[in-house]
Amino acid sequence: MSSFPKEFLWGTATSAYQIEGAYKEDGRGLSVWDRFCETKGKVWEGHTGKVACDHYHRFSEDIAIMRDLGLQAYRFSISWTRILPNGRGKLNPKGLEFYDRLIDELLQAGIRPFCTLFHWDYPTKLYDKGGWLNEESPKWFSDFTLKVAERLGDRILDWMTLNEPQVFVGLGHGTGKHAPGDKLPIAKQLKLVRNVQLAHGLGVQALRAGCAKQGKIGWAPVGVVFYPATDRPGDIEAARKWTFGCSNNHVFSNTLWSDPVVLGRVAPEAEKAFGKALPKYSESDLRMMAQPMDFYGVNIYQGTAVTEGKKGKGEVVPFPDGNPRTAFAWSVTPESLYWGPKFLHERYTLPLYITENGLSNIDWVSTDGKVHDPQRIDFLRRYLGELKRVVNDGVPVKGYFQWSLLDNFEWAEGYKQRFGLVHVDYRTLKRTPKDSFFWYRELIRRKGAV
Ligand code: FCB
Repeated sequence: MSSFPKEFLWGTATSAYQIEGAYKEDGRGLSVWDRFCETKGKVWEGHTGKVACDHYHRFSEDIAIMRDLGLQAYRFSISWTRILPNGRGKLNPKGLEFYDRLIDELLQAGIRPFCTLFHWDYPTKLYDKGGWLNEESPKWFSDFTLKVAERLGDRILDWMTLNEPQVFVGLGHGTGKHAPGDKLPIAKQLKLVRNVQLAHGLGVQALRAGCAKQGKIGWAPVGVVFYPATDRPGDIEAARKWTFGCSNNHVFSNTLWSDPVVLGRVAPEAEKAFGKALPKYSESDLRMMAQPMDFYGVNIYQGTAVTEGKKGKGEVVPFPDGNPRTAFAWSVTPESLYWGPKFLHERYTLPLYITENGLSNIDWVSTDGKVHDPQRIDFLRRYLGELKRVVNDGVPVKGYFQWSLLDNFEWAEGYKQRFGLVHVDYRTLKRTPKDSFFWYRELIRRKGAV
């Protein structure tokens, strides 16, 4: 691999519920994930985030690990119910103090904090009032955002409103596989989409109004990526079309979400797919959603190959039997980190960050006391090779956040899936850097050349 631009930013990402633990400490209120974990049969082997990596108590140790890694940027999220235990109303000063300390220590270590406001841990108190279906929900989110902005906006200069809205709507309220476990019909899910988009817009306004220093604002949706099976123009066109497409029975789409938020219009593909199920977007809704953003963050783990096909509509190329998959059974498709950013930049033109990418692997501490994860190293080498290619093609990707710094609570999969550069023993909470940690450290040191 030759090199990335000198100013390219190398980071890792985590989220509050997945690492913090301390679920009842210092006045924290409960989120839908706390409740979901208590519901039998929802999370693998009944795991919960009650302790997780205990980052709440061990954040200094974790920052020392980041420093050792030579990390330049760290993406984390704020737990809404640490700040506002009831989701709104009374502030919990201890919650804010935790993030205060976290940020100060990050800055002292020379690490740039990238803050996500909402990474799925929705307050139960607000869910019980209708949650994202309540017309007030955008306002609840922006009130929370304003509180965070007022306290931390003098030091945090990089913000993301929402993490993967496709997932917390599609799995949380569609298939029911994630908290809160609802299975709503598509028309209701689409109503929720609209409220979440409004929340994003109001949230951006709150950040602009509340932060003492004007930072950069983006968000971090899923990148739904289709890539061409070959370099033939017909295949490329088919991949582009599918990447911008919508299906009529789920919300896993780029354009359903991003056309209103970035372009201030309803995606023609969404109108075509959903027809009457799509709620009305008024002119003022669209104006509110489409607040100017500074970057487009995107989480990309995998993609699907397509060809032009015989009927001119494109066809999915099935993943060949026995081809590489991660422990999560996600397909290893480095091309997604080339074509995803390329297509998204064509349509949305904003500078990009890869706000998440990585893999789960079957890692354990070996008899020599080390954690050998050659697959992760190979995965990163392949994916980053494709990312470098797209950057060299002139697509302005500004940085990359590897998911994740630590092994952590992987939602419905509990602690089964290990994504970290650092192994966590959940009995002792001991952290052990994996081989990939040292590989990534070298990559950062050489500014992307390995
Ligand atoms: C993404 C989530 C993140 C993590 C990774 C593996 O969908 O944003 O929290 O669980 O997947």
